[in-house]
This record gives sequence, C-alpha cells and structure tokens, in this order.
Amino acid sequence: MKPDRYAVVGHPIEHSLSPRIHALFAQQTGQDLVYEARLGRLDHFADDVRRWFREDLRGLNVTVPFKEQAFRVADQHSRRAEYAGAVNTLWCEADGRLTGDNTDGAGFLHDLGERLGFAPEGQTILILGAGGATRGLLEPLLRRKPARLVIANRTAEKAQGLALAFSELAEATRLEASGLDTIPTGPYDLLINATAAGLGHGALALPAGLLHADSLAYDLMYGAGAQPFLFWAQTQGAATVSDGLGMLVEQAAEAFALWRGVRPDTTPVLQTLRANEAEP
Ligand code: ATR
Repeated sequence: MKPDRYAVVGHPIEHSLSPRIHALFAQQTGQDLVYEARLGRLDHFADDVRRWFREDLRGLNVTVPFKEQAFRVADQHSRRAEYAGAVNTLWCEADGRLTGDNTDGAGFLHDLGERLGFAPEGQTILILGAGGATRGLLEPLLRRKPARLVIANRTAEKAQGLALAFSELAEATRLEASGLDTIPTGPYDLLINATAAGLGHGALALPAGLLHADSLAYDLMYGAGAQPFLFWAQTQGAATVSDGLGMLVEQAAEAFALWRGVRPDTTPVLQTLRANEAEP
C-alpha cells in the first residue's frame, strides 16, 4: 500500500522545516506517511489545493503568504480558524468537503505552558503587531483570562480594530490597543513580538520599562529574524527569552494529531532541530 501523502505549501518554501518535523513525528509514532514541501503559485492557490486533494493528498499545512487564501478555499472551518481568519491546516472529509483549522494559537499556548511554564491567567501581556500572527493568538490567549492584554502596532488603527473585534472574549481582561510610540506603561509579564520587523533586522524601536526581572519575551519568528528582538529583551532584563521554534513544532504536532489521531512527543524533535541549528 502507498503511504499517505501530506504537504506544506508556501511561497517561498525551500527553507521550511515542516517536512523534517513531520518526518520525525512519523518515525517516532510509527506512521507510514510522506510529507513534502510544495511551492504554491501565487495566482493559482485555490486551483492547486483542490487539485492536490483530488489527486491523493490527505492533509496540507499552509504557510506564508497563503493562510488567508486557505481560509477561503476551505468549505468549513473550526471555531479557532474562524477567530484567526486564517487556516494553516487542511484536510478532506469523507464527503469531499475541505475542513480548515488553525493550530498556530494552540501551538503557541502549548509551547508557552509546557516548555516555558508560563500560565497566562491573571498576567499582563503586551503583543507587538496586529497582523495575521496576532489575530491567531488572541482567542486562545483571552480564553486563559489574562488580567491585561495590550495590542501595540505601528499602525495604531489596526490594533484598535483587533481589540474591538475580540472585545466579546475579553470579559476577564482589560483589552487595550495602542501605537508603538504610545505603548501604555509596563512592565509586562509577557511580551510577544508578532511583527514582521525582525525580517528587517531590528527595525523596532521600543521604549524602556516594558519588562521586569521575571518577564518572558517571546518572538514568534525563529532563527536570525528573532535575534534583534530577543537581544533587546535581554538588555532590558527579561528573565527568559524564546524564539518561535517551539511554537513551530507544537503547531505541527497539533496538525499531526488532527490528521493521524496521535500527538507526537515534541521534546526530542525540538532538541534535534536545535542541534541542527547549532551546526555550522
Ligand atoms: P503576519 O501575518 O505575519 O502577522 P502581516 O499581517 O503582514 O503579517 O502583519 C505584519 C505586522 O508586522 C503588522 O503588524 C505590521 O505593522 P503595520 O500594521 O503597521 O504594517 C508589523 N510590521 C512589519 N514591519 C514592521 C516594522 N519595520 N516595524 C514595526 N512593525 C512592523
């Protein structure tokens, strides 16, 4: 029998770690599957996805820049995908309908809780950025009832829009929005960089006083893109800093569990990726 076929689609895609992560999951759980990277065509995303599922694809992960398009391709959505307005995991139901889910927020919360020991309940949180990445985190974070959550964005109106859109989930939380130059005085227990600024190598200019000695600073990016923010956070006295590699592995584990019914142990997989990262 041919192994079940899975893939990740993005543009670009050659540096994606997902094939490696899912191969390690399959090996660990004894699942017979293949998982490959596919370059999505920018103007033909929906056609490509539908064709792949008609051919033999069992499940698809979706990365930049296709998560919003993937939302539109799906025939039905999980509640968390509805909140995120974006889909990173697709599969085909027995009746041929495509279901879209979003495991990014769950992956982030898992990494935060299980690996870093941070429980959001009653805490103060500052999120930088108001794009798709922030949107994916707001629902799972607000459900954990932080005391205060501030969304700060270069374009303040976008942060205000998100705060308004998620206000119904903020019963137990003071949910606020600001520009990057008007961030309410800290310090914050958790500071999340969900902007794309790391890509421009340190373009963020942040005020002092956002962190205290027990703060956790988390960049959703991994590799070189996360370093300027994490370096800055260390100079500001953050107790712990983390890039987003753990989140990447956790969101993949959530997708794997949805597809295969078994959640892999993420710890050895993250260790393997870190060891590879350390190689020259
Ligand atoms: P994603 O889906 O990764 O969140 P996005 O929707 O394009 O990507 O959002 C990118 C986020 O990074 C936005 O919040 C953007 O701020 P604006 O809304 O003002 O554009 C933020 N961002 C990108 N480059 C930035 C920079 N150099 N400094 C500050 N914020 C930046």
